[in-house]
Amino acid sequence: MSNSNLPDNSVDTSDSTEDIDATLLSRRTMLGLAAGSASLAFANACSSESSSSSVATGAALSGNIQAPFKSMRDYVAALDAYGLVMRIAEVNQDEYEATGLMCRARDQHGMRGAPCFMFDEVVIGGKKVKGPLLVNESGNSHAECIAFGLAPVDDGPISTEPFNSYRKAREYVEQLLLANDGEYPTISPVVVEAADSPCKEVILHGDEIDLTKFAFIQGNPADAGRYINTGQVYTRHPKYGVNFGTYRCHLRGPRELGLNSEPGQTGYRHLKAAQARGEKVAQVSIVLTPDPYVWMVAGSKMSFGKNGLVDEMSIAGGLAGQGIDTVKCETNSFMVPANAEMVIEGEVPLDDLRPEGPYAEMVGYQGKVKDEVFWLRVTAVTHRRNPWLMNNFTGEQAGALMAAGHARSFMRLKKNYPAVVDFFPDTRAVGFYFVSISKTRPGQGLEIARAIAERDFFAKIVVVLDDDVDVTDHDAVLAAIGARWQPYGNLQVYEERPALPLDPSSVKVGKGSKIAIDATRQWPEENGPTVFPATNESLLLAGAPDAFANVDAKWGDALRLWRPGSG
Ligand SMILES: Cc1cc2nc3c(=O)[nH]c(=O)nc-3n(C[C@H](O)[C@H](O)[C@H](O)COP(=O)(O)O)c2cc1C
Repeated sequence: MSNSNLPDNSVDTSDSTEDIDATLLSRRTMLGLAAGSASLAFANACSSESSSSSVATGAALSGNIQAPFKSMRDYVAALDAYGLVMRIAEVNQDEYEATGLMCRARDQHGMRGAPCFMFDEVVIGGKKVKGPLLVNESGNSHAECIAFGLAPVDDGPISTEPFNSYRKAREYVEQLLLANDGEYPTISPVVVEAADSPCKEVILHGDEIDLTKFAFIQGNPADAGRYINTGQVYTRHPKYGVNFGTYRCHLRGPRELGLNSEPGQTGYRHLKAAQARGEKVAQVSIVLTPDPYVWMVAGSKMSFGKNGLVDEMSIAGGLAGQGIDTVKCETNSFMVPANAEMVIEGEVPLDDLRPEGPYAEMVGYQGKVKDEVFWLRVTAVTHRRNPWLMNNFTGEQAGALMAAGHARSFMRLKKNYPAVVDFFPDTRAVGFYFVSISKTRPGQGLEIARAIAERDFFAKIVVVLDDDVDVTDHDAVLAAIGARWQPYGNLQVYEERPALPLDPSSVKVGKGSKIAIDATRQWPEENGPTVFPATNESLLLAGAPDAFANVDAKWGDALRLWRPGSG
């Protein structure tokens, strides 16, 4: 795919902004932020007065703001251009301020509406440690569009979580998949010289290395310690080749990292296979803060193509629309992104596994201490001058960008079940999986719910809804379940199925029960009424089709800004 196939990536304000009186702008910006209105901050950022958003979000970041982005820095500069970065000079992580900020941002703006934080300095162990440390660089759904050079979509006055941008990005990737026989497009990586590789601006070996000096933080007071939890761990299998996956690494000392690849993950299987072959050590590299495409591929299973494994770096290139610049590591043969911020190289002793955890897990509950986990003896570190590091408050915020990974799952689901209209494996409430369908026969909803529950171990509670329900809208989903679902005959429970290993409710790790719910309007054959009544809102719109549009135009902004006490 050439760059020209990418859509226009200029900052498009036409479909996503409103005219804002310049004299009111800064007051409105402040009000919007105070009111927890991510969409207003976003709209302001796209307006002709976009610099005002920087007043609230920090000094504008410099860098390339045009996709495709060669580095995370450039991508964050683009987020900043949309007013999606809140830059904070200093946080005291000894007091868990960064964690608290992320949790509060999520509470006020929603998991998919919260800003990216950029902490310039972080107090760790009583000392100021230079960052920046990035948090939530992928959480805001507008970021899904921005990564692909698409203009984000303002969801209008009533939404704080911008799922229309997520949908737009997903549809964009669906088009890429359609043009490539249902598979992710690939572009081979480009090999660059070490001298041209920002990730090698500083090269450290042996005793020169002290990872504890960088802004890696402890996210929760109950965690085992400080973690590098956004690194891509590179491993090699003689038959299946190189894999990189995002696995958390416990910072245990200047040159020692715990390496928590869960059983079943590709990295874990590579290390176990090396152990089974009788090898004593495995070479591993860990890449920190690469470009957004490598980052999104690392946290996904996109490499599992229909005809076998596909090179992950080439998928990242295909999604970017240009080959990823790669460079050889110092002490092993892994080819890693040259524009990453840091690369840690080392050896995993395969006959010496050590305890790991506890840790605040992505499901929002504390995970157990594990007795035997691989670890890394660090032999070399290369990094940019002033490397940008990332942290993920797992369980409190979104993970990596998800639209690209979801696109193929959605297309595969639709291919098997053409009645499917939309889906949302809800990362805000891990375990839930919502699907909307256009039902053509009784029993169809339950059939689809069951198929998903049986196949996807993340899907513990699968709810199938009618196509007029927005599957990203919790209120709409709950209202439909409450009003349309007749439990008798329209649910199935399955005992002991493969389940998410981190599910805190499981007694046996990796096993759990599941429920499939058909919450479409129940038909008479499904124990529903002969005639299902119309919704009040559909009757309102049938009689007054312009009601909402008129009200939004007249009072949308006032409503959005209103807070108790503001009159
Ligand atoms: C921020 C973040 C942290 C993650 N931490 C872990 C982890 O500690 N262990 C793990 O097995 N998976 C972790 N994951 C999930 C994996 O990256 C994900 O399952 C990915 O698909 C792994 O693919 P692979 O094992 O095939 O490379 C994390 C994902 C993200 C985005």
